[in-house]
Amino acid sequence: MDGLDVESICKSFRTSHGTLPVIDRISFSQSQGEVVCIVGASGSGKTTLLRILAGLEKPDSGSLRLAGHPVEGPGPERAMIFQQFGLMPWLTVLENVLFGLAPGGLSEEEKLARARDAIERVHLGGFENYHPKALSGGMQQRVGIARALAVRPRLLLCDEPFAAVDAITRQLMQTDLLNIVTQQKSTVLLVTHDIEEALFLGDRVLVFSSRPARLLRDVKVDIPKPRSHEVRVTPEFQAMRGMVWDILQANQ
Ligand SMILES: Nc1ncnc2c1ncn2[C@@H]1O[C@H](COP(=O)(O)OP(=O)(O)OP(=O)(O)O)[C@@H](O)[C@H]1O
Ligand SMILES: [Mg+2]
Repeated sequence: MDGLDVESICKSFRTSHGTLPVIDRISFSQSQGEVVCIVGASGSGKTTLLRILAGLEKPDSGSLRLAGHPVEGPGPERAMIFQQFGLMPWLTVLENVLFGLAPGGLSEEEKLARARDAIERVHLGGFENYHPKALSGGMQQRVGIARALAVRPRLLLCDEPFAAVDAITRQLMQTDLLNIVTQQKSTVLLVTHDIEEALFLGDRVLVFSSRPARLLRDVKVDIPKPRSHEVRVTPEFQAMRGMVWDILQANQ
C-alpha cells in the first residue's frame, strides 16, 4: 500500500492531576494523493495525532505505516504545517523555508530553487528577505505552508493551516493548497475546526469525538475535483455539513 495506515493508536498523557487519555483506538487508511480532513472539538487530541504521525510524539500502542514502512521518529517524507506557524523569528522568510530542507541530501542550488518555488506558490515572492515579525499573521502562516511544500513530502500534515487568516484570504488559500497538493500528488491529512473547510478540501472527512478522540464517522465527500467555492451552497454540500454538525453535537 502506497498511502498511510493508522492502526488502533492509543495515547495518554501523564500529568500532575493523573493520566489523561487523549486518543482512543483510532484506525484509518489513506491512499496516496488522497486528502483527508479531521474535524473534532477543541482539546480532543487532533494535534496530538498529527504530532504522532510526524514522529514528534510516540503512541502508547498501535501502529503507523507510510508506504508500508513503520513511522518511527521524524523523516523527510513527512512535513507538518503547525497551528502556531512554528517559524524561527531570527531567520528570514527564505531561511525559514530553507530550514525545512536542512536534513535532506539536496544540493544548495536545488534547495534554493525549491524554496523559491514554494515561496512563489504561496504568493510571497518579494518577501524572501523579510523577518516573520514584519509580516501579517496570514503571511506568516503562508511561510509555514511554503516550508512544508518545499520538502515535497509524501505525507503533508496540516494543523489548522488557515486559522490565522480572514474569511476571504482563507478561501483563496484553500483553493491554492488544493491545487498545489494535486500537482504534487501529496497525501494530505488536515485538521480543522471548520466543517465547510473539511468538506470543501477533503476526499473524506473523519469526525472525531471529544477527548479521548475516537473516530465517530468516516464521511466520503463525493464532489468532483477541481472544486469551486460555489459547491458550498448546493443542497448536497449543506446536507453533509448538517450531518457532520449533528454527529459533533451529539458527542460533546
Ligand atoms: N505534552 C502534553 N502533556 C500533557 N497533556 C497534553 C500534552 N499535549 C496535549 N495535551 C493534552 O491533550 C489534550 C489534547 O490536546 P491536542 O492539542 O491534541 O488537542 P486538539 O484537538 O488539537 O485541540 P485544538 O482543537 O484546541 O487545537 C488536551 O487536553 C491537552 O491538554
Ligand atoms: Mg490542535
